[in-house]
Amino acid sequence: MKEWTREERYRVLQSADDIRGLYEAIKKSDYRQTYHLQPITGLSSDPNGFVYHKGIWHLFYQWCPWGAVHGLKYWYHTVSKDLVHWENRGVGIYPDSFYDNKGVHSGSGFSTGEDLYLFYTGNHRDDNWVRTPYTCVAKLEDSGELVKAPQPLFGPHENYTEHQRDPKVVYDEETQKYYILLGAQSKDLKGKVLIYSSDSLLEGWTFAGELQVPGFENLGGMWECPSIERISGKDVLVFSPQYTTLPHRNQNTNHNVYLLGKMDYQNLTFTAEGDYRHLDYGFDFYAAQFAAGVKDSDRAILTAWMGLPDNHYPTEAEDWEGSLTLPRELRLVNNRLIQRPIEGMASLRKQPLTLDKELPRVCELEVLNARKQDFDLRLFSKKDGSGGFRISYDSKTKLCTVDRSQMDQHFNAELGECLTIPMEDELTKLAVYIDKSSVELFINDGQATFTSHLYPTAAEKYYAADSHLELKGWLLKQAVSDDFVV
Ligand code: FRU
Repeated sequence: MKEWTREERYRVLQSADDIRGLYEAIKKSDYRQTYHLQPITGLSSDPNGFVYHKGIWHLFYQWCPWGAVHGLKYWYHTVSKDLVHWENRGVGIYPDSFYDNKGVHSGSGFSTGEDLYLFYTGNHRDDNWVRTPYTCVAKLEDSGELVKAPQPLFGPHENYTEHQRDPKVVYDEETQKYYILLGAQSKDLKGKVLIYSSDSLLEGWTFAGELQVPGFENLGGMWECPSIERISGKDVLVFSPQYTTLPHRNQNTNHNVYLLGKMDYQNLTFTAEGDYRHLDYGFDFYAAQFAAGVKDSDRAILTAWMGLPDNHYPTEAEDWEGSLTLPRELRLVNNRLIQRPIEGMASLRKQPLTLDKELPRVCELEVLNARKQDFDLRLFSKKDGSGGFRISYDSKTKLCTVDRSQMDQHFNAELGECLTIPMEDELTKLAVYIDKSSVELFINDGQATFTSHLYPTAAEKYYAADSHLELKGWLLKQAVSDDFVV
């Protein structure tokens, strides 16, 4: 694995020519996704500035151009009319000011209907590499250019550590104020959400206080990327707790969870109904963000980074890694959060598959197992039926197990290669979305989800399924442009 010096990781991109050669080489990779967003070169991580504005969905990602390494971060801009087909727009926000000299870190979008604002964390470091995070704003001009406000909205709060970032902006009808939620860490190393409020989007921000989340004071040592949305009258608080292990996550110390409950902006309290739940049970899912500006109060839209901090993936050798998950629709059904792939995904279906043991590298599968029995399904197994990405279900324990330890390429194996999903109801239905280097499972119409990167080799191109499983499938069309736009 390549060792990067700080100078290499924090190099400033001078022109598109700096990475044109890299792009041409990466384009030939057998693992380039076809209907998931991915970096043109280098590394993509968190989704940023996800917002619907004047008929267009804007979605940015954290981008480091040089390789599969976390260095100087830019916001890379993509757009879509339907959340299914995406186009590259090039760099959105550059780390080119004093306040973001070492990276434009994560944040959110907010549309007033007329104007679109992007709120982000300016990651400033001094000569001694001491970090000061600033909360900043930029406006998307009609020309497509993003223009930064000359001054940050505010700097860090002295009672917390340097970890204060990822502004999520919301407007609360009851108090008629704007709020910024920031992911933070207290000095005794606990995960927190800080809240700032203002009567106006662009000025007058003051520290309102720390969000109280009774019962969850000890869940992790830092909460990254808090995001909140109201669905059918209920609030959903999503965040990424770090520095702790949690049930069903093996040795992982980075997670993405949600709480259902009630957000009270007046008293800065989120009262949860019940325990936290994993937003996704998979190996590679983090920093999820709700889209702003969704005009339907019964549905939220969310996407996440298909990856985890500190993890490494086989395409690192090709100088790129990362992808965003499919955007999902979230609804409340019988007081439970249900996540489904975005409705328009069906428009990508080409002809139905004739399933004859070989598995295409880009497809959608539907597994119907209405008899509620144990089952075993192996994707990308070898010709003799061995190996593969194994999904199995035990009806006695109601546990679904996903095991990637039998694949040829191993990655992040030290964190565990097998994860379990505890099902509340019997597992009867499974939708599987396979792209060139990923697989996403939606179980029982979205009661649980599982996201994983996957890098099958040439020999891994079959599947094996228990005979009682009914399988249907479709080839899927390409939906993201892989154009070189910088
Ligand atoms: C989450 C995160 C954010 C930060 C960004 C930097 O993955 O650590 O908290 O803003 O990544 O790339």
